[in-house]
Amino acid sequence: MKIVELSKDNYALYLQQIAEVHMNAYSKKHLTANFSQQKLEEYYRCLIEASELSSICLDDSSGQNEIGEPLVVGFVIAGSAVSKGVAKFLSLNRLYVFSVLLRKPRFLIEKFFVTIISIVKKSKPSAAKFRLMSISVRSSFQSKGVGKIMLDCFEQGLINHGIKSYGLSVRGENVRAVSFYEKNGFKLEKVSHDSKYYFKNLGQ
Ligand SMILES: CC(C)(COP(=O)(O)OP(=O)(O)OC[C@H]1O[C@@H](n2cnc3c(N)ncnc32)[C@H](O)[C@@H]1OP(=O)(O)O)[C@@H](O)C(=O)NCCC(=O)NCCS
Repeated sequence: MKIVELSKDNYALYLQQIAEVHMNAYSKKHLTANFSQQKLEEYYRCLIEASELSSICLDDSSGQNEIGEPLVVGFVIAGSAVSKGVAKFLSLNRLYVFSVLLRKPRFLIEKFFVTIISIVKKSKPSAAKFRLMSISVRSSFQSKGVGKIMLDCFEQGLINHGIKSYGLSVRGENVRAVSFYEKNGFKLEKVSHDSKYYFKNLGQ
């Protein structure tokens, strides 16, 4: 496996496969997994442009996709302002996202309750400014240690940049990801509605 850091010069080469990995790895319980391939590519373009540290994992042994490019088996998107990328995507695609919400009203109901709960019950913001926004591994490559390789490499990158801690949030029902994070040393920071917030210190 080979980890390649994404930059503004190379990310466009991998955007299509990043969207494919997302589609393949995330369950339809995630709103974004209901986006079209083209919208997911746009979504990741916005995220990567707003991110400070993102990478992909390539299968450099035998894997190639159908047009002969090295196969992207996973990716990590992270930074202190990736949410600005999400906001940019939403502002450019309001109608599209609304149409997905209409097709999948479950998300609309969820959003309604999350908004009400956040008004009624103010929760403390996470202590971690640097956020791991998304980590995904192609399903046929899961449970082979690829997630751990990517996470270790990502954390080495953070240490090299002088970043000593970071955080993430994950849906509580994403049992596999929750177990992955807990086994990789994350500490639960808070639980808010259906999301769990984790924090990891890289100091020791
Ligand atoms: C969460 C995710 C990134 C983990 O990636 P992964 O490559 O499967 O992770 P790893 O292989 O390093 O570890 C996962 C499991 O594989 C096991 N494993 C690791 N190396 C292994 C090996 N060589 N052989 C067999 N099993 C192995 C680990 O012990 C762990 O199993 P356990 O949780 O039952 O103990 C992946 O499941 C995923 O992409 N999920 C969908 C997207 C998602 O939900 N992302 C998180 C959103 S916040």
